[in-house]
Amino acid sequence: MQYQCPLCHQPLQLDNQIWLCSNHHQFDRAKEGYVNLMPVQHKKSKNPGDNQMMMQARRQFLDAGYYQPLRDAIFSLLDNLLPDDSTSQTLLDIGCGEGYYTGFFAEKLKLRRNITVYGLDIAKGAIRSAAKRYASAEFCVASSHLLPFSNQSMDAVLRIYAPCKAQELSRVVKSDGLIVAVTPAPNHLIQLKGLIYQVPQPHDDSEEHIDGFYLVESQRLSYGLNLPGEQAVNLLQMTPFAWKASEQLIAELSDNTDFYCETDFYIRLYRKN
Ligand SMILES: C[S@@+](CC[C@H](N)C(=O)[O-])C[C@H]1O[C@@H](n2cnc3c(N)ncnc32)[C@H](O)[C@@H]1O
Ligand SMILES: [Zn+2]
Repeated sequence: MQYQCPLCHQPLQLDNQIWLCSNHHQFDRAKEGYVNLMPVQHKKSKNPGDNQMMMQARRQFLDAGYYQPLRDAIFSLLDNLLPDDSTSQTLLDIGCGEGYYTGFFAEKLKLRRNITVYGLDIAKGAIRSAAKRYASAEFCVASSHLLPFSNQSMDAVLRIYAPCKAQELSRVVKSDGLIVAVTPAPNHLIQLKGLIYQVPQPHDDSEEHIDGFYLVESQRLSYGLNLPGEQAVNLLQMTPFAWKASEQLIAELSDNTDFYCETDFYIRLYRKN
């Protein structure tokens, strides 16, 4: 286990359902199996991260398979990159939400290697749901700005639409380790944006630099979705546009039987300098 205490940075050991450090800080292992490593004094709000409505909308949308091509593309990248031998390996999914990618990768990657897959998110409700459903991964509540893992403990970090801090990534990733980052490419959900803005602006096309890492490869994955109204509303509720949508717009979208929307993703692979 690679968890470290968020208060004193000493390693944590599991003792009878309690994670303990040598300075006697303790964190309960919840009945679902996750651990909350977000001390109250580090919280900037009572319930940080995505709320339950966003989490439920994301789960219903992802469960219907609309982002399966993205999941498969990331999986084949990881499956080709991570050695398939008996070496013990670790993968961390930051901002993992309700665990759709984390759970799948844990199950599949474990078939051919000795790997521990961790999922981390600042939203406790999302982590609770993730841990309840996906027993093959280890989940914790924490911020990606203060990762509760020891230095150089991760072979790879996955970042799918999630905030990060380059300094923390560089600290926890092993030398030669990897980051796989998924970010929106220019036309991502442009039709959904068009419902909110008169002239929807494409996403920024600039290549993201992560301090301490170099870009190895960049793939672009784009495909169209034909969504029933209920799933178009779920998609809207997963995004920041939801805050700008009127009740009337949501009602109209929900009545739409075939809403067409483009997806457009960048999947970028970085290696530590
Ligand atoms: C757009 S969602 C993506 C979730 C998941 N990766 C997916 O693609 O389904 C972003 C996630 O980042 C989480 N998040 C926001 N700020 C965070 C932080 N500082 N540390 C960790 N997670 C954070 C949110 O709670 C949310 O689950
Ligand atoms: Zn401690």
